[in-house]
Amino acid sequence: MTVADVTAADMPASVPALTSPSAASVTLFGATTPSGQALIALAGGRTLTVAGRRPPPPAPDAGASPAFLPCDLDDLHPPPQRPAGVLLSFAPIWSFAPWLERWTHQDPAGVSALRGVVACSSSSVITKRFAANRFDRDLVRRLRQAEDLLTSTCRAQRLPLRILAPTLIYGQAGSLGDRNLSELQTLLRRLPLLPLPGQGGLRQPIHCRQLAAAALHLADRLASGPADPAEPVHLPLGGDDTLSYAHMLERLQAATAPGDPARRCRLLPLPPRLFLALSTPLILVSPKGFEAVLRIGADLAGFTPVHRILGEAPEAFPVLPLVP
Ligand SMILES: NC(=O)c1ccc[n+]([C@@H]2O[C@H](COP(=O)([O-])OP(=O)(O)OC[C@H]3O[C@@H](n4cnc5c(N)ncnc54)[C@H](OP(=O)(O)O)[C@@H]3O)[C@@H](O)[C@H]2O)c1
Repeated sequence: MTVADVTAADMPASVPALTSPSAASVTLFGATTPSGQALIALAGGRTLTVAGRRPPPPAPDAGASPAFLPCDLDDLHPPPQRPAGVLLSFAPIWSFAPWLERWTHQDPAGVSALRGVVACSSSSVITKRFAANRFDRDLVRRLRQAEDLLTSTCRAQRLPLRILAPTLIYGQAGSLGDRNLSELQTLLRRLPLLPLPGQGGLRQPIHCRQLAAAALHLADRLASGPADPAEPVHLPLGGDDTLSYAHMLERLQAATAPGDPARRCRLLPLPPRLFLALSTPLILVSPKGFEAVLRIGADLAGFTPVHRILGEAPEAFPVLPLVP
């Protein structure tokens, strides 16, 4: 069984298109991420509170800054004010889940001000579960334990829950940008040629603005009435385009400004066995790095395309803006 088979088997059969629910009040965790910045920009006139260790940088296109609630998810004390509305988290789920569990015991009355929970996990919980290196196996264990804890907490508190498991988040929002494709872009700018195992495996990158829009849409759905028990709680999520690794890099090159050094890098598809043979010495230095190289050839796609959640037209990769 390949990773692609596992991924496809884990997909919900279908996710109903979600249409124009009413706007939820939101308490946002992880605002200092590109997705958090994008969500603040999309929040429009709704009631939005940002909870975190530090206020997010001012977003130029978001109008007035949202209210700030100081809240360190690792702090054992409850926050100075009660969070309200839908809790929406782009913070690491292994910090958010124990915090919510703790807080529901510390402030049971505060739970009544909540309308639901939308939390970000990662598609790694699916795609890295057969990893050979310990780092990735530990990551999967932490993600899964946190997802289970969040699910049991929300069930006990009768809070509707959606867990988003996105793949490969990219793009820029406000002053914050991704550290995935932007690093590949840096590599393209530095190298004259980049060897690849054939065309590489399939990818389904999702822009931080698309992820934020999906999270906001689900928050609105949870706040607008009883959650439909037929809708999946766990939503593996990707962008609207599925493309080979090589094709993704070509589109990235084409999206740079004319004359950008990234355009000069030649992609060099090698026979996959030769590519792997050449990469083998990496096992001695970094087993995790070697497995990352192996994954270039794996199909990490087949997730629900985000346009299906939003009920909108699909957007081609790359969605702009990218990290400059
Ligand atoms: N990057 C990807 O490609 C990718 C792929 C799949 C899933 N995800 C998931 O998508 C979400 C966003 O990912 P990301 O890589 O942009 O961000 P990240 O590094 O996973 O999370 C950073 C955010 O979490 C906040 N945070 C961390 N610890 C906290 C604490 N103790 N108390 C309060 N806030 C805390 C940070 O706030 P501070 O400003 O206080 O540091 C920051 O806003 C995460 O849930 C991540 O697991 C990411």
